[in-house]
Amino acid sequence: MAATPWLLLLCLSLAAGGVLQARAQPDSNGFISIDCGLQGEEGYVDTATKLSYYPDTGFTDGAGTCRNISADYITPSLCKGMYTVRSFPSGPRNCYTLRSLVPGLKYLIRAKFMYGNYDALRQPPIFDLHIGVNHWHTVNITKPHVEKSVEAILVVPDDFVQVCLINTGAGTPFISSLELRPLKKTIYPQVTAAHGLLLSERINFGQIDENNVIRYPGDTYDRIWTPVVSSGTYTEVSTTSKVIPDSLFEVPTTVMQTAMRPRNVSSGMSLSWDPEPQPNNPSPGYIIIMHFSELEFLLFNVTREFSINLNNEPWHPDNIMPKYLYGAAIYNSVPSWKSRYDISIIPTVRATQPPIINAIETYTVVTTTNLGTDSLDVSAIMAIKVKYQVHKNWFGDPCGPETVMVWDRLTCSYATTSPPRIIRLDLSLRGLNGDISSFFTNLKAIQYLNLSNNNLVGSIPDALSQLTSLTVLDLSHNQLNGAIPSRLLKRVEDGSLNLRYGNNRDLCANDNSCRLEPKWKSNLAIYIVVPVVVSMIVVIVVVVLFCSLRRKRQGSMNNSVEPQNEATTSYVPGNNAHRDSFSLHQLESRRFTYEELKIITNNFQRVLGQGGFGYVYDGFLEDDTQVAVKLRSHSSTQGFKEFLAEAHILTWIHHKNLVNLIGYCKDGEYMALVYEYMSEGTLHEHLEGSKHNGGRLSWRQRLRIALDSAQGLEYLHKGCDPPLIHRDVKASNILLNARLEARIADFGLSKTFSGGNDYVSTTTLVGTPGYVDPEYHATMQLTAKSDVYSFGVVLLELVTGKPAVVREAAPINIIHWSRQRMERGNIESVVDARMCGIYDVNSVWKVVEIALKCTACVSPQRPTMTDVVDQLQECIELEEGRTIEVGNNGFYTSGGSDNPDLSYNAYIADQSSDSTTFQTEHGVKRVHSMPTGPATR
Ligand SMILES: *[C@@H]1O[C@H](CO)[C@@H](O)[C@H](O)[C@H]1NC(C)=O
Ligand SMILES: *[C@@H]1O[C@H](CO)[C@@H](O)[C@H](O)[C@H]1NC(C)=O
Ligand SMILES: *[C@@H]1O[C@H](CO)[C@@H](O)[C@H](O)[C@H]1NC(C)=O
Ligand SMILES: *[C@@H]1O[C@H](CO)[C@@H](O)[C@H](O)[C@H]1NC(C)=O
Ligand SMILES: *[C@@H]1O[C@H](CO)[C@@H](O)[C@H](O)[C@H]1NC(C)=O
Repeated sequence: MAATPWLLLLCLSLAAGGVLQARAQPDSNGFISIDCGLQGEEGYVDTATKLSYYPDTGFTDGAGTCRNISADYITPSLCKGMYTVRSFPSGPRNCYTLRSLVPGLKYLIRAKFMYGNYDALRQPPIFDLHIGVNHWHTVNITKPHVEKSVEAILVVPDDFVQVCLINTGAGTPFISSLELRPLKKTIYPQVTAAHGLLLSERINFGQIDENNVIRYPGDTYDRIWTPVVSSGTYTEVSTTSKVIPDSLFEVPTTVMQTAMRPRNVSSGMSLSWDPEPQPNNPSPGYIIIMHFSELEFLLFNVTREFSINLNNEPWHPDNIMPKYLYGAAIYNSVPSWKSRYDISIIPTVRATQPPIINAIETYTVVTTTNLGTDSLDVSAIMAIKVKYQVHKNWFGDPCGPETVMVWDRLTCSYATTSPPRIIRLDLSLRGLNGDISSFFTNLKAIQYLNLSNNNLVGSIPDALSQLTSLTVLDLSHNQLNGAIPSRLLKRVEDGSLNLRYGNNRDLCANDNSCRLEPKWKSNLAIYIVVPVVVSMIVVIVVVVLFCSLRRKRQGSMNNSVEPQNEATTSYVPGNNAHRDSFSLHQLESRRFTYEELKIITNNFQRVLGQGGFGYVYDGFLEDDTQVAVKLRSHSSTQGFKEFLAEAHILTWIHHKNLVNLIGYCKDGEYMALVYEYMSEGTLHEHLEGSKHNGGRLSWRQRLRIALDSAQGLEYLHKGCDPPLIHRDVKASNILLNARLEARIADFGLSKTFSGGNDYVSTTTLVGTPGYVDPEYHATMQLTAKSDVYSFGVVLLELVTGKPAVVREAAPINIIHWSRQRMERGNIESVVDARMCGIYDVNSVWKVVEIALKCTACVSPQRPTMTDVVDQLQECIELEEGRTIEVGNNGFYTSGGSDNPDLSYNAYIADQSSDSTTFQTEHGVKRVHSMPTGPATR
């Protein structure tokens, strides 16, 4: 299904673009190499890389013009790719579309710009570069002869990616060349769906020839390693032996074979730079990756050992001893934010050899969480664009970035964590010719479609009736003919579609009847009334139950009412003037007598816990199934309503992540609920450390618990009809079974809300301090987003191991506590130290991001539980995608080395250090710091 639109689109484009489009495909390496502005159809083979470069005609939708740079700037050393540019004098955004990619894979994308006074204006422009809908870089061309390169490593979510040039009013955007290289999924672990890296520097130290740039084929990923020649106080070390690359960055052996060291054996080295602020990213976070390998065979009596400081503080907690001919990397996973970077590499007191460094990469982190439009919508609208040849300004992503660049005549809807969808399309009065494209029916989220006042011919596609969201369809003033599809008419009759089709020559409704109005009106009422009645009945079920019991309570507590009597109780609720009778009799679950409960619980012997209604007891059914019995306490003056609400809700909803009700007891004044036994107690107990293996939940277990609970809540919000708001989501209402699977419990406060009204008003504020949505608190209007808020608090508890109200010097809400720390860029300081640093830091980061979104003050900014479930699934993939197995002691060990003598050691994060996490990749031997500390020179 998904592939079809693209297939068709490619065929259409092929027809228009001839043989060129075929070249828009990656080559056998998966590389795409484009020489922008190159005229004609012929590509050429680049002399240095032997890669074929092609003209860009098939990539730009015909936008822009080809220009030559001024002959004054053509020098013998200038590569051919810079001779021509494509400039985009018109339109705010112009894009290159790179197709046939693998969704979810990491790619390196590199754009080059050399102005070369191509327009004879001597005025280099400034413009923005977007990848998809995410801002990457502001390209500030300062000198005509400078070759500027912008390189990004990112995860491409779709099977295509767009590189867009944005005219910001400071000159005409242009581009010289564009390259795309696929990367292995495991390399550059800092790159995730949420964050990409923008290259600052990639330096190969110890080169003798300053022109010896290493790229493809030396580097299989065609990264460009800039040579730095040692001089002054530095000299080079090199080898001709092969250096085995590390597995996370795969630095080519030719880069690792050379290194730089100080001439003076007892000196250190220093590297420094200032952060490069970007207009949209004034304080970029940096990722630093240093590559080391010993290149000299050292005798036993000589030692090369050094430590690394950043701004005079230890950057990596351990001293480094590079291994002979094995590449290794020291890098941070969480970006660091500094006003200046001074790195010093200092020999330790034991060292007899000076430190070395083989290569370094520095990157800034770019957030890539702005999602592009749903890819099916994109392919459909692109096909529509091609078919009707309209709207030359339809370039780039149809919906994004939000509010800035949305395509003309098109409206989108935006969710926090799912891609934007096209919901309105107005192509009226656009001179459309031909039939109604079937691509319209691929816009699955469309609500409003206006194709009126065109020259459309042919019949109305039946598939339009399948667009369930479509409420307005205007086909009037065209030349359509044939019968209106009966299913479309049915939509009109049931009132779910407003169809206009007047002023078409030969169009007629079925049954020779072109008049729809009378039927339409009479059926409308039914359409509205039915769902209301359905939802009312369910509300009444609960209300009636509640009232029947309240009446009983108002009577004598000793006067036990026979259960049978309740069946006839009726109640007239306030404005829902409706009568009906329901009772616990109609519950499907097993009904227990009080005597039975006594036997089951061995006379209420063992207390499992205590809730608002009373105690929860341990029990065993006849078949030895262990159960938990929640008995309403005699002294409990509250909770009739809650108790019954819970009983009722649990009998009509079932989900693997909601606690399972086995039965209930309504025996005289005794009321009890019997649940499946959850042997691991509550999440709260686990986090607090009061239960069993106190607080020792691993990150993976925490993620699973988060996902389970999120799925339970998603079911309440989306899977239940009518939907339910839990209203008291908290760690102590999340129960765990022996396999640590989580189930949501305690539905006593839940409320139904009907799908049409997005909120319900409540008169009493309920919930637990620390978890209550401030918006609900202020407005008393309850929405599903209140649960999302509380769930965000639970997520923060899972990450931090702290309770919802953190009691430090003064009590502080966990959200503020976490935000304060996160604002300092310090994720390590929020993470529960009991996890001993064993986690994929990107997934932790992501969970914190989700939690902070969930706890946004304004509810529309919060994601839905469906979004949260999707995001948590990605976090689990990240965590489970860690390449190295976790040992018991917090260190990673893994075999699989080419050299069986080697066991790899990696080290993650000393929690006490600052904002950076450090990981040593294989090959670096971990050595303990000297008691005296590193020697400073
Ligand atoms: C650019 O230069 C080539 C030959 O070097 C020439 O054929 C072409 O017409 C020039 N293009 C423009 C736009 O001047
Ligand atoms: C562009 O670069 C010049 C020179 O470095 C600088 O003065 C100017 O502020 C920059 N403009 C922008 C918009 O970054
Ligand atoms: C090497 O560096 C040390 C410390 O900076 C200095 O004392 C020594 O004189 C230097 N040796 C040479 C040969 O420059
Ligand atoms: C190490 O031992 C070798 C040979 O045994 C000797 O020539 C060299 O001077 C020693 N080096 C150091 C630093 O002690
Ligand atoms: C469709 O567009 C036409 C022309 O712009 C407009 O007159 C008409 O009201 C629109 N139809 C609907 C249902 O909005």
